[in-house]
This record gives sequence, structure tokens and C-alpha cells, in this order.
Amino acid sequence: MPPFPAKEVVALVAAVYWRFCCACVALALRGVRSEIMATMLSEVYVHGYHPRENERLHDQASTLVDLLHFDTAYPAGSKVLEVGCGVGAQTVTLARQSPGARFTAVDVSAESIAEAKRRIDHADLTNVEFRQADIFALPWGPDSFDHAFVCFVLEHLSRPVEALALLNALLKPSGTITVVEGDHGSTYFHPESRAARAAIQCQVTLQEQAGGNSSIGRQLYPLMTAAGFDEVRVSPRMVYVDSSRPDLVDGFTRKTFTAMIEGIREAALSAGLIDPAGFDAGVRDLHRTTEADGVFCYTFFKGVAAKARHA
Ligand SMILES: C[S@@+](CC[C@H](N)C(=O)[O-])C[C@H]1O[C@@H](n2cnc3c(N)ncnc32)[C@H](O)[C@@H]1O
Repeated sequence: MPPFPAKEVVALVAAVYWRFCCACVALALRGVRSEIMATMLSEVYVHGYHPRENERLHDQASTLVDLLHFDTAYPAGSKVLEVGCGVGAQTVTLARQSPGARFTAVDVSAESIAEAKRRIDHADLTNVEFRQADIFALPWGPDSFDHAFVCFVLEHLSRPVEALALLNALLKPSGTITVVEGDHGSTYFHPESRAARAAIQCQVTLQEQAGGNSSIGRQLYPLMTAAGFDEVRVSPRMVYVDSSRPDLVDGFTRKTFTAMIEGIREAALSAGLIDPAGFDAGVRDLHRTTEADGVFCYTFFKGVAAKARHA
């Protein structure tokens, strides 16, 4: 067994995990037109899934956007930097919730920025400008922004504290940062299953080998503190799913989380992390949690902090 997965495996895991993040965000969008929602959800590879069936995801979307964003609003006139905006899923929500703020959304991927711009235009939002840049080489100096926002990005970075410290330096003295991350270790479900846990662990291990950390949510407090921020406050945001919430059973448990695990099957097998029967049993047991007596929980973490006084 190779001690470290081949380049292709690393790329595959990164792609699958990114799609998971995008799907989470897609589920969190509120008030977007159904075709946008469908397009985003279709980024998750799911057998038999038909994007046009998803009118009902609007209710669920509302639930998740409230969960992640109910307390994010920026004053009119403030300058907000979103780093790692991806295809703009969060950007749409942020810009809509704070119409008077001016957003600069940055990503290292030109392709993602093009898609994000398309979505912002489609949503008739005019308070966002885009720029392609690396979080480790941002083209601004100190005191450039009132607020920074980062969602589902630190988990992909091997130097998250350094990235946060760089953002700290760009903020004005009264500036704040908001960070949202997931944590696969927060996953629990009924019926319990060792096989399901083993399959999830494959994702955690592969992500780690790719230089990321899929359980970074729980570390937000120490990471933000180590980066020099003051008044760090982290709040867990748990998604709880049972069969009284068929929208979340379908959209989150089945088509987001379980689909993500299904998507790393080849990578996990190639890396020798598990055998095919073990992996397939794990996926089966994850699907089992979507039945009438099943329960599934996942927790996101949101950290908010003030610029360090001495940064
Ligand atoms: C999982 S996506 C999250 C996108 C968006 N924040 C969201 O919540 O939908 C991670 C994003 O971070 C971007 N990214 C990764 N490393 C980066 C870096 N060093 N600098 C800027 N962006 C980066 C990726 O291109 C990708 O768009």
C-alpha cells in the first residue's frame, strides 16, 4: 500500500470534498431561483438524481441558511472581503442580506469566479466585485477592509493559521472576521454502524493526506486565537435530520453527505484504506439512516472575532 495517495487520488478527494462543501452551501441558499439551486445540487454526483425535482428544497434551504447565516449582516458602506468564494454560493446570501455593504469576493480559481459572477448577476445583485487571487498573496495592504468572511476554505489549507493572520493584517482596526467550517467528526447517526464510520474515516484520512483537515470545525477557536484575533466566539450549528424532515433526509443525508462518501469509493480503495465490501457496507448503513426510524446529525462551526489590537 503506498504511504501517500497518488496525485490523481489526492485531486479526486479534493474535488469530491469541494463538491460536498458546495452542496452544503447550495442547500443553504435561500430565495434563489429553482434552476440555480438545481444546478448547484447537481454538482454532487448522485445516481438517479434529477435537478428539476427540487422545488421542495426551498424550505430546507431556508432552514440551513438561517442556521449558518442568521447572524451575519454588515453595515451599509462597509467593505467586506470574502476569500475562497468558489462559485459564489455564500456570496449570494451575504450580498443579499447586506445590500448596503460592498463585497470583494476572491478565489484562486478563475473558473469558479466566472461562475460566481454569473450567479451574482443572475440574482440581480450589484454590490459584489470579484478578483482572482491566492489567500497567501492577496493584493491589498493593511486597513483595506472592515470585515472578512471565509467559508469552507481553511479545511483545504495546510497553513490555516497563516492564512487567518494574513486576513487579520488586511482589516481596519475595528474589523471583524467570520469563519464557517464543517467537521466530519461531528457526524453521528442512528442506527449506529461501525461500517459507516469506517467509510467516513476514509474521507477524513484522504483529506488529511491531501493536506487538508475535514474535522477543522472544532479547531476554529484555537486557530483564530493563534492567528492573533481577539474576542473569538465560536458557535456550533447542528443540522439534525429525522424522517419528519423529508427535505433534509433527501437533500442533506442522502444527496449531500452520503453522496460525498460514495464519491470517494475509488480513492479509498486505491489508497488501500478499506476493502470494497467494507466500504459498500458503510454506504449502505448511511443510507439506512434515511429510513423512517433513522436519524442523522452533522455540525458546522461558525467563528466570529475582532481584529487583533496589536496586529
Ligand atoms: C469548498 S470551496 C468553498 C467555496 C465557498 N466559500 C462556498 O462556501 O461555497 C473552497 C474554495 O476555496 C478556494 N481556495 C482554495 N485554496 C485557496 C487559496 N489558496 N486562495 C484562494 N482560494 C482558495 C477554492 O478554489 C474553492 O473555490
